[in-house]
Amino acid sequence: MRTHHCNNLRKEHIGQSATLVGWVNTKRDHHGVIFIDIRDREGVTQAVFRSEENNEAAQLSHSLRQEDVIQVTGTVGARPEIEGQTTVNPNIETGEIELIATELKVINRSEVLPFQLDKELSNEDIRLRHRYLDLRRPRMARNLKIRHRVAKACRDYLDESGFLEIETPILSKSTPEGARDFLVPSRLNPGSFYALPQAPQQYKQLLQVAGVEKYFQIARCFRDEDLRADRQPEFTQIDIEASFVSTDDILSLVENLLARCFKDALNNEIECEFLRLTYQEAMNRFGSDKPDMRFSMELTDLSSVFKESQFKVFKGAVDSGGVVKAINAKGFACITTGQINHLTETAQLHGAKGLAFIKVENGEWKSPIVKFFSEEEKNRLTEAMSIEEGDLILFGAGDWPTVCEVLGRIRLECAGYLKTTEGNTDLKFLWVTDFPLLSQDKETGKWNAVHHPFTRPKQEDIHLLEKGDNLGEIRAEAYDVVLNGHEIGGGSIRIHESELQAKMFAALGIDETQALQEFGHLLGAFSFGAPPHGGVALGFDRLVMLIAGEESIREVIAFPKNNRGVDLMSSSPAEVDYKQLRELYIKSTREEKKP
Ligand code: AMO
Ligand code: AMP
Repeated sequence: MRTHHCNNLRKEHIGQSATLVGWVNTKRDHHGVIFIDIRDREGVTQAVFRSEENNEAAQLSHSLRQEDVIQVTGTVGARPEIEGQTTVNPNIETGEIELIATELKVINRSEVLPFQLDKELSNEDIRLRHRYLDLRRPRMARNLKIRHRVAKACRDYLDESGFLEIETPILSKSTPEGARDFLVPSRLNPGSFYALPQAPQQYKQLLQVAGVEKYFQIARCFRDEDLRADRQPEFTQIDIEASFVSTDDILSLVENLLARCFKDALNNEIECEFLRLTYQEAMNRFGSDKPDMRFSMELTDLSSVFKESQFKVFKGAVDSGGVVKAINAKGFACITTGQINHLTETAQLHGAKGLAFIKVENGEWKSPIVKFFSEEEKNRLTEAMSIEEGDLILFGAGDWPTVCEVLGRIRLECAGYLKTTEGNTDLKFLWVTDFPLLSQDKETGKWNAVHHPFTRPKQEDIHLLEKGDNLGEIRAEAYDVVLNGHEIGGGSIRIHESELQAKMFAALGIDETQALQEFGHLLGAFSFGAPPHGGVALGFDRLVMLIAGEESIREVIAFPKNNRGVDLMSSSPAEVDYKQLRELYIKSTREEKKP
């Protein structure tokens, strides 16, 4: 139907005839001459309809409305000078030419749109309800292209590196990744349910036992959890597993893979060999296991400064084995009372008793707590924190994990208020390694896997798991890759011995019967010569979001769910017929809301 795309025609085509198809992007009427910007996937071209060329086409062009689908044939002409003024449009690639229309065919008409495609819309619900229109916007079309290019870069790179792409079941068995499962009832096995995979974790390990050695999959994962800007109930992972590999092998594979993604999608060169921090160091210095390294504002330990302080809160924290730490939000002494109150609420929400602060204004320290500080404490504090006019110092006192976590969050909030990263296009990658293997639930005392139950303890800590001693101190051979404060992937070297795996289940309070029932296939497989193996999964949507410079993964998913897990366009989830439920041996216990 066309001779060219709407972004093909240039000066060298002047004088040639061309046929374009696409949508009416804009229509302007200059004294009876109609100018149509015709748009397709690749761009826009201006078509001019004058009665001299073809009166019938010119008359028809008057009736065009936005988003009508048309076919235009004409001759490529240079954009003319009018009254000494050039009509060249330097903002579009076809801005030096126009199509002087001789024929017009209206292929299909469009109703008036529910929203303007050329304006940013703040109401996301309207966009999602008409997603097929929203995706016509150039920004969204670009995001879909970037997503395609990143997927292709991954496939190309992993293929060249000897990985096989293998699909694993969607109707599968529950595998623990820390979220709730989506369940699918089985009609043929009444009362039984499939679980949609939270990740292909066990299958990819079983493929290693099968001798595949290098596996990957662009895998759809399903997790029933609370949604945020970087979380969807169904999302995509670049899932990777390999045999006979070390942590270094996986980290270097991922670094090169990410470099290839940025190169193929944006032609950006990124430094391989990312910075590495242990979990301990990341928490201690940035109060986060996914620190945003585009700015410093590091946590400074002041325990030694305040161990004999008159300020009871600080001395008390150190006396009871805790710490005093602080951050310096440079230039934020101008913080408002409302903002301080908000930060204090954030601190309290994450377990702090309060949030002591000092504002340095007009050479004075303004703070309810400095009256308790000795001269020596003030001097040491000034030096440790490099305090200057205009600074805001924020303190946390208490146990180490709480203080780190609280100040980590305050650090991010301050950076938000100060717009520290606005317009910053740096790409700060890092690895966080040596995560704890297990964490203890404060209320129940139960131990949970920090990554998942198949993660291997570090060699030097295996004896602790074997003895069931000091479980909180065991470090895992696990790693996360972080970009600008987002966890874009995580993985680990796995347990490949059934005895060690059984010990891990025991530490998690899973008894032998339950282990056999839930993971018998894995334990069985490990007894038939399982190779040592490890892997990683990258959050594909998050990666594409960061490559595209977007703030939410919804912007890079064609048909996402909103933050209530609803697809507003197709209205899913939806109620189903009683008959359908009966076939599945299912009865809803939900009580009808009283009107
Ligand atoms: P993990 O649970 O860390 O590891 O997931 C890997 C990566 O997937 C992304 N991700 C998500 N993206 C969008 N929406 C979600 N709800 C969501 N949840 C996770 C994150 C995360 O880093 N099987 C292991 C990997 C392994 O050990 O090899 C796993 O799934 O970017
Ligand atoms: P108080 O002595 O409880 O009135 O606290 C004095 C100041 O210290 C207030 O600004 C509190 O917000 C702050 N504060 C109290 N407990 C802590 C804590 N654990 N860490 C940091 N600041 C605290």
